[in-house]
Amino acid sequence: MSTSGHSHGRITVPALRARKGKGAEPLVALTAYSAPMARMLDPHVDILMVGDSMGMVLYGLPSTLSVTLEMMIAHGAAVVRGSEKACVVVDMPFGSYQESPAQAFANAARVLAETGAQAVKLETGTEMAETVRFLTERGIPVMAHIGLKPQSVNMSGGYRARGRNEDEAKRIFADAGAVTDAGAFALLVEGTMELVAQQITAAVPVPTIGIGASAACDGQVLVSEDLLGLFQDFTPRFVKRYADLGTEIEKAAETFAADVRARRFPGPEHCFGVNKKS
Ligand code: KIV
Repeated sequence: MSTSGHSHGRITVPALRARKGKGAEPLVALTAYSAPMARMLDPHVDILMVGDSMGMVLYGLPSTLSVTLEMMIAHGAAVVRGSEKACVVVDMPFGSYQESPAQAFANAARVLAETGAQAVKLETGTEMAETVRFLTERGIPVMAHIGLKPQSVNMSGGYRARGRNEDEAKRIFADAGAVTDAGAFALLVEGTMELVAQQITAAVPVPTIGIGASAACDGQVLVSEDLLGLFQDFTPRFVKRYADLGTEIEKAAETFAADVRARRFPGPEHCFGVNKKS
């Protein structure tokens, strides 16, 4: 057993960092917020991301902005308990790291200590490269989330893809360089034009993991509920739906309700001490 009691046998941050370039196997990541989901996904992925997308997907919130550190810690710990192989990366929620490097360190240290996860993810860029450096130099691995940053929706005005004009493309490219120089072990590139993702992937020494950022990236991530058809409020163009579990759940609930109303459920096989003669 490792000293942390958690990371023994898991894919490590340095192993992920080394998965770079065309010769390496692409990195596979999915989101998870609960132990049972983590258990099902763990054998198939390199990274389980405990994303603050849980605000919308699990809690029905309008954005990620009101997700709290306590929510991230509770769900992060559940995902660690439910998995044994994947590297677990937990999102730092809005307001928990932007104020100062010291604030970011205190909260990120809590996340790692209280969940057993191996790394945190920050929506960041040139303006917070100092924070990335502060954390990584003090033993906290950081995945940097660049491109479309949902926590900045009130500044950017929406969730449209980024890098559509030269200025924006240059800014994202500069962000990638700054956070990589500051020690980020991987970049999550969200909602970004293919050419920009391609240029970043070619330029940085760490793997890029894309979501809506084209096949140019070194790996891919999706929100599991999108891929499974469990979140039907809105499906972005970049999602491929691999199953329609939402419809299956509705069908199961409908059949259960019909069985109860028609007194078909429970049957004798589901009951205790049933008098077979009566
Ligand atoms: O919050 C989230 O689920 C994310 C994904 C892009 C991984 O950041």
